[in-house]
Amino acid sequence: MYRTHTSGELRIAHNGTVVTLAGWVQTVRKFGAITFIDLRDRYGITQLVFAESLNEQLEKQPIGREFVLQATGTVRERTNKNANLATGDIEIAVSAFTILNRSAVPPFTIQDDTDGGDDLRMKYRFLDLRRPEVKRNLSLRYAVNRATRDYLHGQGFMDIETPFLIKSTPEGARDFVVPSRMNAGQFYALPQSPQTFKQLLMVSGYDRYYQIVRCFRDEDLRADRQPEFTQIDCEMSFVDQDDILRMFEGLVKHIFSTVKGVNYDEPVQRMRYDDALWLYGNDKPDIRFAMQLLNLKKPHHVLTDKQDSRGLIDGAGFVVFDNAETVLAIAVSGCADYTRKQLDELTEWVKRPQIGMQGLVYIRCNADGSYKSSVDKFYNEDKLKAIADAAGAKAGDLILILAGKEELTRKATSTLRLEMAERLGLRNPEHFKMLWVIDFPLFEFALEDMDGGGAGRWVARHHPFTSPKPDHIDIMINHGPTVDDPEKYLEHPYAGIKANAYDLVLNGNEIGGGSIRIYQRELQEKMFAALGLDAHEQQEKFGFLLGAFEYGAPPHGGLAFGFDRLCAILGGSESIRDFIAFPKNNAGRDVMLDAPGEIAEKQYRELHIKPA
Ligand code: AMO
Repeated sequence: MYRTHTSGELRIAHNGTVVTLAGWVQTVRKFGAITFIDLRDRYGITQLVFAESLNEQLEKQPIGREFVLQATGTVRERTNKNANLATGDIEIAVSAFTILNRSAVPPFTIQDDTDGGDDLRMKYRFLDLRRPEVKRNLSLRYAVNRATRDYLHGQGFMDIETPFLIKSTPEGARDFVVPSRMNAGQFYALPQSPQTFKQLLMVSGYDRYYQIVRCFRDEDLRADRQPEFTQIDCEMSFVDQDDILRMFEGLVKHIFSTVKGVNYDEPVQRMRYDDALWLYGNDKPDIRFAMQLLNLKKPHHVLTDKQDSRGLIDGAGFVVFDNAETVLAIAVSGCADYTRKQLDELTEWVKRPQIGMQGLVYIRCNADGSYKSSVDKFYNEDKLKAIADAAGAKAGDLILILAGKEELTRKATSTLRLEMAERLGLRNPEHFKMLWVIDFPLFEFALEDMDGGGAGRWVARHHPFTSPKPDHIDIMINHGPTVDDPEKYLEHPYAGIKANAYDLVLNGNEIGGGSIRIYQRELQEKMFAALGLDAHEQQEKFGFLLGAFEYGAPPHGGLAFGFDRLCAILGGSESIRDFIAFPKNNAGRDVMLDAPGEIAEKQYRELHIKPA
């Protein structure tokens, strides 16, 4: 037996017990003739004390950091207790030890605030994984995995595996492909998601399916994206949208309570996509705080009690506003006392290339009821007050206004809103708020090539298996997809078609998305045609699905959660990498394996492909 206990479990109640521990050497400290070693394993750290009698052996067999050590000794109370350590009340008076294995000097310190940079830690990920912080993240991931399985099992879901070597499943990214040795010149694609398989399982009658499954997408990477990532993938038959939303907000609430001890009792708010864009400038708004956008160019289309704000800025001769397509304002609580320097800094912030605005207009709503703004020349106090009132500002608030092209300005204001909330401490990672965004558009117009399929065409906003709202089906029947002037795609009837699609947003992050599916062959063909696939291509790419729809496909729908993202948010992090045991870097490389890498010439020949 290598050990009687772990390094995380001994307490004062074990006083006097003889124990054997095995683990890694965190630190070695010498005080006079006595040596102290902190021994670490997955469960914690325990202090070992080596009396003078062991010095001869210690000299012959010097112990260094990350050595694997087995030590036997007696638990005793520490004189110098360490309140930061779970085992901090005790130490082990070592009577014998064995070095089980030696270690090279680690390239960085194995502790929470390590001296290792990102690249180095990725290269030695097996050492990084020893750090307590990373261990906490992986434990949390495992807890979320278990809670998910418990909940779904309890609801009658069955975990069914689906293949990885498949034909393309379009989810809006490029496919990773695998050449086939046995079928010269042919390729498998790795699944971007198990979408078509789970729909086939519904046709087969497995009416509640789930899988915690790896998905593969060749797309540009960000903090919340990896080329291979994990989904909690789910599908149900004989359900409407409401059934699905309730089932899966139930899942996230269950995860909150079991993993975080958070009782999320309130119902999850639902918001139409159009309203989310209008009120927050974003289809995944963080609704932990208000700070809604006020549109000063268009009449308010969402809340009837809000006045039409157009007149507030028009006709004052301020060309920046007069010429802008969109002018958006937010009221930032309690920031009227922002100094000149702070306002200048904020102006520079919105001018950064990532934001791309020309400038920033502000109105100070002073505590004494007066108003001061950067555009006083054009707007008198009454006008400023009217804007402030429309933006819902109080005395002491600061109004920030951005003007420019519609999409750019909306995005910039949305980013500014999040930035100001961050500065005001309104984005507490331990405060969780979910939101369903519903009624997404069915199509998106690809001005640029998004998935290798070319630009200037309609693509599915979600994926091609998502059903349109029943009363929008006629639009697809009566109109072809051709767009004459790409600049004016918004005027095409397809731009107004809404889908039975929904996203679950948590604290401003899209953690899941899904839809009620098309289950009739004719409508699915119509949808493929709208996306530019002719009958031959439809048959070649999706013949199996269209065929299956002829054999009694039930009405069905589902969704998938980004498992890594959900874990990251629950763990209070922006980066999903911290929650994946062996992640890729931002260039899609595994730095530890040095992958992707070259293959041998022989392999090219076997695979019937030529080196580039
Ligand atoms: P979707 O493409 O919206 O839907 O993906 C579902 C969720 O997966 C997460 N996600 C990612 N996480 C990490 N890295 C990525 N590259 C990445 N891409 C997506 C997001 C997202 O909300 N088959 C459909 C689901 C369905 O309709 O049932 C699908 O895959 O959190």
